[in-house]
Amino acid sequence: MTPEQALAAAPAKAPAAVPVEGEAPEAFELDGQPMVRWTDAEGCTRVAHDRCPHRRAPLSAGYVADGVLRCRYHGWGFGGDGRCVDVPALGPEGRIPPRARLEVVPSEVPVTLPAAPTAGSWLDGDTPGLERFWHQACRLGELAPGASVETELLGTTWTLSLAADGATYSARTAEGAEPFAVQAHLDHLWLAPTAPLAPLPEVPEWGQDGWHLRRLSRAEGRFGVGLLLDNQLDAGHFAFVHTTTFGTPDAARLPESVVERDGTTVTCTMRVPIAARNLAVVEAEDDEPRSHRTMHYAFHAPLWLRLQLDYEEGLGSTILLFGFVPQGPGRARMDLDILFRRPEGFTEDQLDERLAFEEQVVAEDLHLQRLFHDLRLPLDPAAELHTKADRYSLTCRHLLRDLLAEAAATV
Ligand code: FES
Ligand SMILES: [Fe+2]
Repeated sequence: MTPEQALAAAPAKAPAAVPVEGEAPEAFELDGQPMVRWTDAEGCTRVAHDRCPHRRAPLSAGYVADGVLRCRYHGWGFGGDGRCVDVPALGPEGRIPPRARLEVVPSEVPVTLPAAPTAGSWLDGDTPGLERFWHQACRLGELAPGASVETELLGTTWTLSLAADGATYSARTAEGAEPFAVQAHLDHLWLAPTAPLAPLPEVPEWGQDGWHLRRLSRAEGRFGVGLLLDNQLDAGHFAFVHTTTFGTPDAARLPESVVERDGTTVTCTMRVPIAARNLAVVEAEDDEPRSHRTMHYAFHAPLWLRLQLDYEEGLGSTILLFGFVPQGPGRARMDLDILFRRPEGFTEDQLDERLAFEEQVVAEDLHLQRLFHDLRLPLDPAAELHTKADRYSLTCRHLLRDLLAEAAATV
């Protein structure tokens, strides 16, 4: 059965009615630890760590609706006693993990809440083993013949150069060390510090007629490289994070998906409802144009992602190519190249509009990413809470954990 057949065979589910807006909770510090305060349904003030047990998003970025504190990332709702009362991705009858709860106290009582967990393995901008893979060092357009640029990768500054004849690329550290290899590929110069354990990703549509390439503005700075990746692997946040672009409350409940791990890639296919606010040809109900798209994720370990969006109603396809670059601890870069195609083609203005919309989508993601207190992505499954809606992200983490262990063992 193909992924499309499996999705077609899945039973239709009623959309969940989950609020996506409400009052803002309050962020504050207690003994140097980030905390959140809100008023529950009984009018009691409640205090908890500013960390969601699901993916550790700051709860202070969320909202309070009907006395329930909702996380801004995936909408998990927490009652006044700290218990999780709703996991929107699972729907109303979904099984909520018993451990899904916050340690909550009345704000008048001085108590010490348990500290954030620190054990386990993590993915960050300096994680050992990442040197055994290819990384996007710079865009080819940043290098003129005879010129050099500097880039940071895994805490090392590399000087990248293009020979005067425009044919040969090279890289070296300040100490004169050279990498195992550099290679021009897909509009980027890729660098492998040591012999890579996974091949460079291929994109058959690259340069093909009918596909139009545009490049999104680079994101760079205080970001968790693993968090940026995990964010883009995840469809459960659309209803809560993308409220001004394509997110719709109908998308709160995640549909069936097909996840497959093969070598150093993990794929996932799912069909999701979208608010087609930028696709004006779609009929509007309640002034909210709606449509569906099928999403084909292909994660190439450790830090590259292809996401193909096939729109319905003849609206064409978009392929998003994400390169996540580990610069150092708590520092990362994200380059995004986008291929657009639709049956009638595009004018330059239409392509500019499509790109501007994608910029807005990514800005919504980055806004929340900037608010995380801890920028590391845990690779130990016990460090966070998962539901069956997290299967894709979890399968990718298992692959990452296995590959990094293999890399560490073969250094
Ligand atoms: S619901 Fe809080 S991080 Fe997912
Ligand atoms: Fe997103």
